[in-house]
Amino acid sequence: MRILVTGAAGFLGSHLVDRFLAAGHRVVGVDNFITGSWRNLEHLEGTEEFSFIEHDVSRPLFLADRIDGVLHFASPASPVDYLELPIQTLKVGSLGTYNMLGLAKSQRIPFLLASTSEVYGDPQIHPQPESYWGHVNPIGPRGVYDEAKRFAEAITMAYHRYHGVETRIVPVGVFVVATGVRSTRALCTKLILTRPTSMGRVDRSVTTWKTCTAWWDAPCRAAAVSSPT
Ligand SMILES: NC(=O)c1ccc[n+]([C@@H]2O[C@H](COP(=O)([O-])OP(=O)(O)OC[C@H]3O[C@@H](n4cnc5c(N)ncnc54)[C@H](O)[C@@H]3O)[C@@H](O)[C@H]2O)c1
Repeated sequence: MRILVTGAAGFLGSHLVDRFLAAGHRVVGVDNFITGSWRNLEHLEGTEEFSFIEHDVSRPLFLADRIDGVLHFASPASPVDYLELPIQTLKVGSLGTYNMLGLAKSQRIPFLLASTSEVYGDPQIHPQPESYWGHVNPIGPRGVYDEAKRFAEAITMAYHRYHGVETRIVPVGVFVVATGVRSTRALCTKLILTRPTSMGRVDRSVTTWKTCTAWWDAPCRAAAVSSPT
Protein backbone atom coordinates (compact mmCIF):
# COMPACT_ATOMS: atom_id res chain seq x y z
CA MET A 1 0.00 0.00 0.00
CA ARG A 2 1.10 3.55 -0.74
CA ILE A 3 -0.44 6.07 1.63
CA LEU A 4 -0.39 9.84 1.35
CA VAL A 5 -0.14 11.66 4.69
CA THR A 6 -0.66 15.42 4.75
CA GLY A 7 0.84 17.24 7.72
CA ALA A 8 3.58 14.60 7.69
CA ALA A 9 6.12 16.88 9.38
CA GLY A 10 3.79 17.59 12.28
CA PHE A 11 3.37 15.98 15.65
CA LEU A 12 0.74 13.39 14.76
CA GLY A 13 1.54 13.09 11.05
CA SER A 14 5.17 12.16 11.62
CA HIS A 15 4.22 9.37 14.01
CA LEU A 16 1.63 8.17 11.54
CA VAL A 17 4.31 8.02 8.85
CA ASP A 18 6.57 5.99 11.15
CA ARG A 19 3.78 3.57 11.96
CA PHE A 20 2.87 2.89 8.35
CA LEU A 21 6.49 2.45 7.33
CA ALA A 22 7.08 0.08 10.26
CA ALA A 23 4.14 -1.97 9.04
CA GLY A 24 5.77 -2.38 5.63
CA HIS A 25 3.81 0.20 3.65
CA ARG A 26 5.07 2.99 1.46
CA VAL A 27 4.31 6.56 2.47
CA VAL A 28 4.25 9.85 0.61
CA GLY A 29 4.47 12.71 3.12
CA VAL A 30 3.26 16.19 2.23
CA ASP A 31 3.87 19.31 4.30
CA ASN A 32 4.64 23.00 3.92
CA PHE A 33 6.34 23.26 7.35
CA ILE A 34 4.06 26.06 8.49
CA THR A 35 3.95 24.55 11.98
CA GLY A 36 5.83 21.29 11.38
CA SER A 37 9.53 20.61 11.13
CA TRP A 38 11.82 18.49 8.99
CA ARG A 39 13.38 17.35 12.28
CA ASN A 40 10.33 15.12 12.74
CA LEU A 41 11.17 13.30 9.52
CA GLU A 42 14.94 13.53 9.18
CA HIS A 43 15.42 10.03 10.60
CA LEU A 44 13.71 8.81 7.40
CA GLU A 45 16.28 10.29 5.03
CA GLY A 46 17.44 7.50 2.74
CA THR A 47 14.38 5.35 3.47
CA GLU A 48 13.33 4.04 0.08
CA GLU A 49 9.71 3.50 1.09
CA PHE A 50 9.31 7.14 2.10
CA SER A 51 9.06 10.10 -0.23
CA PHE A 52 8.32 13.70 0.61
CA ILE A 53 6.67 16.55 -1.24
CA GLU A 54 7.00 20.08 0.16
CA HIS A 55 3.67 21.56 -0.77
CA ASP A 56 0.85 23.72 0.56
CA VAL A 57 -2.21 21.49 0.26
CA SER A 58 -4.45 24.55 0.08
CA ARG A 59 -3.23 24.54 -3.53
CA PRO A 60 -4.06 21.64 -5.84
CA LEU A 61 -1.67 18.68 -5.74
CA PHE A 62 -1.14 16.57 -8.85
CA LEU A 63 0.39 13.14 -8.38
CA ALA A 64 1.76 11.12 -11.27
CA ASP A 65 1.76 7.89 -9.28
CA ARG A 66 -1.04 5.81 -7.91
CA ILE A 67 -1.74 5.94 -4.17
CA ASP A 68 -4.06 3.81 -2.06
CA GLY A 69 -5.35 6.23 0.58
CA VAL A 70 -5.23 9.83 1.79
CA LEU A 71 -4.84 10.68 5.47
CA HIS A 72 -5.44 14.42 5.79
CA PHE A 73 -3.72 15.66 8.96
CA ALA A 74 -2.46 19.03 7.71
CA SER A 75 -3.68 21.92 9.84
CA PRO A 76 -2.31 24.13 12.57
CA ALA A 77 -3.64 22.41 15.69
CA SER A 78 -2.53 24.23 18.79
CA PRO A 79 -4.39 27.41 19.81
CA VAL A 80 -1.09 29.29 19.75
CA ASP A 81 -0.59 28.32 16.11
CA TYR A 82 -4.08 28.79 14.75
CA LEU A 83 -4.59 32.13 16.48
CA GLU A 84 -1.36 33.30 14.81
CA LEU A 85 -2.31 31.72 11.48
CA PRO A 86 -6.04 32.35 11.11
CA ILE A 87 -6.23 32.58 7.31
CA GLN A 88 -3.93 29.60 6.71
CA THR A 89 -5.98 27.57 9.20
CA LEU A 90 -9.22 28.39 7.41
CA LYS A 91 -7.63 27.66 4.04
CA VAL A 92 -6.19 24.28 4.93
CA GLY A 93 -9.47 23.17 6.52
CA SER A 94 -11.48 24.28 3.49
CA LEU A 95 -9.34 24.41 0.34
CA GLY A 96 -6.86 21.83 1.63
CA THR A 97 -9.61 19.37 2.44
CA TYR A 98 -11.30 20.08 -0.91
CA ASN A 99 -8.04 19.43 -2.77
CA MET A 100 -7.32 16.20 -0.92
CA LEU A 101 -10.87 14.97 -1.45
CA GLY A 102 -10.39 15.70 -5.16
CA LEU A 103 -7.32 13.49 -5.13
CA ALA A 104 -9.24 10.71 -3.39
CA LYS A 105 -12.10 11.05 -5.86
CA SER A 106 -9.90 11.03 -8.95
CA GLN A 107 -7.95 7.98 -7.77
CA ARG A 108 -11.04 6.30 -6.27
CA ILE A 109 -9.33 5.77 -2.93
CA PRO A 110 -10.38 6.19 0.73
CA PHE A 111 -9.96 9.51 2.51
CA LEU A 112 -9.58 10.16 6.21
CA LEU A 113 -9.97 13.57 7.85
CA ALA A 114 -8.32 14.33 11.19
CA SER A 115 -10.96 16.42 12.92
CA THR A 116 -11.44 17.58 16.46
CA SER A 117 -13.95 17.87 19.25
CA GLU A 118 -13.56 21.64 18.69
CA VAL A 119 -16.30 21.27 16.06
CA TYR A 120 -18.65 21.44 19.07
CA GLY A 121 -17.31 24.90 19.95
CA ASP A 122 -17.91 25.48 23.64
CA PRO A 123 -20.18 22.50 24.31
CA GLN A 124 -22.85 22.70 26.98
CA ILE A 125 -22.93 18.96 27.64
CA HIS A 126 -20.16 16.43 28.29
CA PRO A 127 -19.44 14.03 26.76
CA GLN A 128 -21.10 15.01 23.50
CA PRO A 129 -23.41 12.39 22.01
CA GLU A 130 -23.80 12.06 18.25
CA SER A 131 -27.13 13.88 18.49
CA TYR A 132 -25.42 17.02 19.89
CA TRP A 133 -24.55 19.57 17.22
CA GLY A 134 -22.52 21.98 19.26
CA HIS A 135 -22.51 25.46 20.71
CA VAL A 136 -20.35 27.40 18.31
CA ASN A 137 -19.25 30.97 17.70
CA PRO A 138 -18.12 31.55 14.11
CA ILE A 139 -16.96 35.13 14.79
CA GLY A 140 -14.85 34.50 17.89
CA PRO A 141 -11.07 34.16 17.53
CA ARG A 142 -11.17 30.35 17.86
CA GLY A 143 -13.78 30.21 15.12
CA VAL A 144 -10.98 30.00 12.55
CA TYR A 145 -10.15 26.49 13.71
CA ASP A 146 -13.63 25.30 14.72
CA GLU A 147 -15.31 26.51 11.54
CA ALA A 148 -12.50 25.21 9.32
CA LYS A 149 -12.98 21.76 10.79
CA ARG A 150 -16.78 22.01 10.56
CA PHE A 151 -16.47 22.89 6.89
CA ALA A 152 -13.94 20.08 6.44
CA GLU A 153 -16.39 17.58 7.97
CA ALA A 154 -19.25 18.91 5.84
CA ILE A 155 -17.36 18.71 2.56
CA THR A 156 -16.04 15.26 3.48
CA MET A 157 -19.61 14.05 3.92
CA ALA A 158 -20.68 15.79 0.71
CA TYR A 159 -17.98 13.96 -1.26
CA HIS A 160 -19.13 10.74 0.34
CA ARG A 161 -22.82 11.30 -0.37
CA TYR A 162 -22.54 12.95 -3.77
CA HIS A 163 -19.43 11.37 -5.26
CA GLY A 164 -19.37 8.09 -3.35
CA VAL A 165 -15.87 8.66 -1.97
CA GLU A 166 -15.13 6.33 0.92
CA THR A 167 -14.52 8.68 3.83
CA ARG A 168 -13.71 8.58 7.53
CA ILE A 169 -13.73 11.44 10.04
CA VAL A 170 -11.71 10.98 13.20
CA PRO A 171 -11.98 13.63 15.90
CA VAL A 172 -8.70 13.40 17.77
CA GLY A 173 -8.09 14.78 21.20
CA VAL A 174 -4.57 14.62 22.46
CA PHE A 175 -3.72 15.09 26.06
CA VAL A 176 -0.08 15.70 26.55
CA VAL A 177 1.00 14.15 29.81
CA ALA A 178 4.63 15.12 29.67
CA THR A 179 6.15 18.48 29.03
CA GLY A 180 8.09 18.92 25.82
CA VAL A 181 6.32 16.03 24.16
CA ARG A 182 6.15 17.86 20.85
CA SER A 183 9.92 17.84 20.60
CA THR A 184 10.62 14.29 21.62
CA ARG A 185 10.18 11.07 19.72
CA ALA A 186 9.05 9.41 22.93
CA LEU A 187 5.38 9.91 22.35
CA CYS A 188 3.83 10.12 25.76
CA THR A 189 0.23 10.93 25.12
CA LYS A 190 -3.22 9.61 25.45
CA LEU A 191 -5.78 10.17 22.80
CA ILE A 192 -9.52 10.19 22.75
CA LEU A 193 -10.78 8.65 19.61
CA THR A 194 -14.18 8.37 18.18
CA ARG A 195 -14.51 5.11 16.43
CA PRO A 196 -15.59 5.37 12.79
CA THR A 197 -18.52 3.07 12.20
CA SER A 198 -20.00 2.52 8.81
CA MET A 199 -18.67 4.20 5.70
CA GLY A 200 -18.40 7.94 6.13
CA ARG A 201 -20.13 7.99 9.49
CA VAL A 202 -18.79 8.74 12.89
CA ASP A 203 -20.42 7.66 16.09
CA ARG A 204 -19.25 10.14 18.67
CA SER A 205 -21.09 8.34 21.42
CA VAL A 206 -18.59 5.49 21.44
CA THR A 207 -15.72 7.68 22.55
CA THR A 208 -13.12 5.61 24.29
CA TRP A 209 -9.80 6.25 25.92
CA LYS A 210 -7.00 4.61 24.06
CA THR A 211 -3.28 4.74 24.42
CA CYS A 212 -1.24 6.12 21.60
CA THR A 213 -0.30 2.65 20.48
CA ALA A 214 -3.87 1.74 19.64
CA TRP A 215 -5.21 4.78 17.87
CA TRP A 216 -3.73 4.00 14.47
CA ASP A 217 -6.56 1.56 13.88
CA ALA A 218 -8.88 4.25 12.51
CA PRO A 219 -6.49 5.65 9.90
CA CYS A 220 -5.59 2.11 8.94
CA ARG A 221 -9.19 1.10 8.50
CA ALA A 222 -9.69 4.22 6.41
CA ALA A 223 -6.84 3.25 4.16
CA ALA A 224 -8.03 -0.35 4.21
CA VAL A 225 -4.71 -1.67 5.45
CA SER A 226 -3.93 -3.86 8.39
CA SER A 227 -3.12 -2.00 11.57
CA PRO A 228 0.55 -1.30 12.19
CA THR A 229 1.63 -2.83 15.49
N1 LIG B 1 -2.73 17.52 18.50
C1 LIG B 1 -3.99 17.61 18.93
O1 LIG B 1 -4.24 17.77 20.14
C2 LIG B 1 -5.13 17.50 17.98
C3 LIG B 1 -6.43 17.42 18.49
C4 LIG B 1 -7.51 17.33 17.60
C5 LIG B 1 -7.25 17.30 16.24
N2 LIG B 1 -5.97 17.38 15.78
C6 LIG B 1 -5.77 17.41 14.34
O2 LIG B 1 -4.72 16.53 13.98
C7 LIG B 1 -3.97 17.09 12.90
C8 LIG B 1 -2.51 17.13 13.24
O3 LIG B 1 -2.29 17.87 14.45
P1 LIG B 1 -0.83 18.02 15.07
O4 LIG B 1 -0.96 18.14 16.54
O5 LIG B 1 0.07 16.98 14.50
O6 LIG B 1 -0.43 19.48 14.51
P2 LIG B 1 0.98 19.99 14.00
O7 LIG B 1 0.90 21.47 13.93
O8 LIG B 1 2.09 19.40 14.79
O9 LIG B 1 1.05 19.36 12.55
C9 LIG B 1 0.30 19.86 11.48
C10 LIG B 1 1.14 19.76 10.24
O10 LIG B 1 0.40 20.25 9.11
C11 LIG B 1 1.25 21.04 8.33
N3 LIG B 1 0.42 21.95 7.55
C12 LIG B 1 -0.42 22.91 8.00
N4 LIG B 1 -1.00 23.55 6.98
C13 LIG B 1 -0.53 22.96 5.85
C14 LIG B 1 -0.76 23.16 4.47
N5 LIG B 1 -1.59 24.13 4.03
N6 LIG B 1 -0.13 22.37 3.57
C15 LIG B 1 0.70 21.40 3.99
N7 LIG B 1 0.97 21.15 5.29
C16 LIG B 1 0.36 21.94 6.21
C17 LIG B 1 2.14 21.74 9.33
O11 LIG B 1 3.33 22.26 8.77
C18 LIG B 1 2.41 20.62 10.33
O12 LIG B 1 3.54 19.87 9.95
C19 LIG B 1 -4.58 18.47 12.62
O13 LIG B 1 -5.48 18.36 11.54
C20 LIG B 1 -5.32 18.80 13.88
O14 LIG B 1 -6.42 19.66 13.65
C21 LIG B 1 -4.91 17.48 16.62
